[in-house]
Amino acid sequence: MCGIVAYIGQRPAKPLLLEGLKRLEYRGYDSAGIAVINGKLNVARSVGRVSMLEEKLEGLKGFEGSLGLCHTRWATHGAVTEHNAHPHRDDRHGIAVVHNGIIENYAALKTWLQERGHVFSSQTDTEVIAMLVSELYEGDLEKAVQAALREVTGAYAIAVVCEKEPDVLVVARKGSPLLVGVGNGEFIVASDAAAIISHTQQAFMLDDYNVVKLTRTEFKTTDIHNTPVTPKVQQLELDLEQIELGSYPHFMLKEIFEQPKSLRACMSGRMDTREGRVVLGGLNTFAKELTRARRVILTAQGTALHAAMIGRYLIEDLAKLPAQTEYASEFRYRNPVIEEGTVVVAVSQSGETADTLAALMEAKERGALALGVINVVGSSIARETDAGVYLRVGPEIGVASTKAFTGQVAVASLIGLFLARRRMMSAGDCADYLRAMETIPEKIEKILEQAPKIKRITEKYVERENWLFLGRGYNYPTALEGALKLKEISYIHAEGMPAAEMKHGPIALINEGMPAVFIANKGRQYEKVMSNIQEVRSRGGHVIAVATEGDEHIAKYVQDVMYIPDIPEPLSPMLAVVPLQLMAYYAAVARGHDVDKPRNLAKSVTVE
Ligand code: G6P
Repeated sequence: MCGIVAYIGQRPAKPLLLEGLKRLEYRGYDSAGIAVINGKLNVARSVGRVSMLEEKLEGLKGFEGSLGLCHTRWATHGAVTEHNAHPHRDDRHGIAVVHNGIIENYAALKTWLQERGHVFSSQTDTEVIAMLVSELYEGDLEKAVQAALREVTGAYAIAVVCEKEPDVLVVARKGSPLLVGVGNGEFIVASDAAAIISHTQQAFMLDDYNVVKLTRTEFKTTDIHNTPVTPKVQQLELDLEQIELGSYPHFMLKEIFEQPKSLRACMSGRMDTREGRVVLGGLNTFAKELTRARRVILTAQGTALHAAMIGRYLIEDLAKLPAQTEYASEFRYRNPVIEEGTVVVAVSQSGETADTLAALMEAKERGALALGVINVVGSSIARETDAGVYLRVGPEIGVASTKAFTGQVAVASLIGLFLARRRMMSAGDCADYLRAMETIPEKIEKILEQAPKIKRITEKYVERENWLFLGRGYNYPTALEGALKLKEISYIHAEGMPAAEMKHGPIALINEGMPAVFIANKGRQYEKVMSNIQEVRSRGGHVIAVATEGDEHIAKYVQDVMYIPDIPEPLSPMLAVVPLQLMAYYAAVARGHDVDKPRNLAKSVTVE
């Protein structure tokens, strides 16, 4: 999703802004641009990578100032062209604007501004903000921004500069995240902490409708009606090491290998194996409501939805509570029935996914208790929930979600056990599950040792354009996740489905050598999965199985096996997904793709 970095201080803005933009590259984008005030406003934009913008800037003068802003754009309104890239500018007053989000009433505002003589050069909604601020400008940028935002509906994080006020940067937020890093005689504003952390650890997050006026020495926060607001400056909980590659070639591989560590952090202090008790401090306030809950609806998008599906199986199976999962985007507009005693759980790595946020708000309005399973602390969804559990897996930079997925499944499992204990599960049974959960990090370490073998297996099939991923029960969502991972970064067409569903249509696709990945670990449906494997084999398909260590029998029926250690079935997705993550990674590398910057994808999608 789009990224913003803005700077006001003593140092040259350009290198600092470009460094910040590179740190936000992981969010996904298709064009980039920069504006620096150096006596006058200078703007440069380019389609493609930040490095292309950098090359362009090498030949340009005027970018030497210490006030500026920049942006990576992920196209929503208007094609990927230089004209549509941000910053957008107005030449009456020399105003430049960068924006994340969507201005919903932009068409009406555009007509109004055109009638007043403003000439637009892009198809974006953002240009409307530049023109509107200009139209309302009477010598005070802060006031003009406040006035403009009073006219705007939609979501935004914006940064604005004006060449007539070379000592002022104005930023504002509604719906899209924005942080102000407080340095020594300087401020760095960014969409996420990754662009700030190398300069300062002190920062505050804007709340909705906050407008911050920054000079080189101080900041002043108000709302759009100019009422003063006091933000809370906090220490950023982020290490540079967490957002740097270290010795890994890609963030995705780093994060796959980080999973033993991230899961230890996620589970630490939350499992009392002696008492057979799950300790989720975030849910304590609502313990009574949770004990009385009659239905759990888990809502999410993408990878987070797959984690939610596993949570649903667990809650039904172990807590014997009706549970369902919903695409947040569908749930919101379906006029959903929320009965008394409904708990809605929004699952999201970023905590900014617009569909998930909207679904949560809808459910809250209809009286549900709103919980969150979120990674990014203080994110929009986290703020809107009544209570929740953070993943604590650290920042996830790879666009293809990996460690956040296993973290989401771990937290969903803990919530399932938490509910189960409050209903009918004995302390002894719960303790058994918790002890099994404790072994997951070391079991993932064992799977990761097989990475070279998984790479070899993947490379055998990497030329094939169509793959199937099949699983049953708890590992049906794992199959969906395996297929999604492969699609996202290798651009191979892959379908995930319940293994039994294959014979109701998709079996027609199977031809000689078509790869079919089966999750065939030991469990209630093992024999059934084995039959499905035979159905593929007898039609010429090549089967790659994820099987339980010690299952020699399966090797006779499939072309390739990737082994995972034994674990109680409800917990097995956290192991079974790891070989699939590695397969997707190695397939993308073998095909020569940029794993961390897959085409068309954004790390968090803040538009519905
Ligand atoms: C985007 C990302 C996916 C992610 C989904 C939900 O589509 O590309 O990787 O799973 O959003 O994101 P969230 O931040 O809500 O987990």
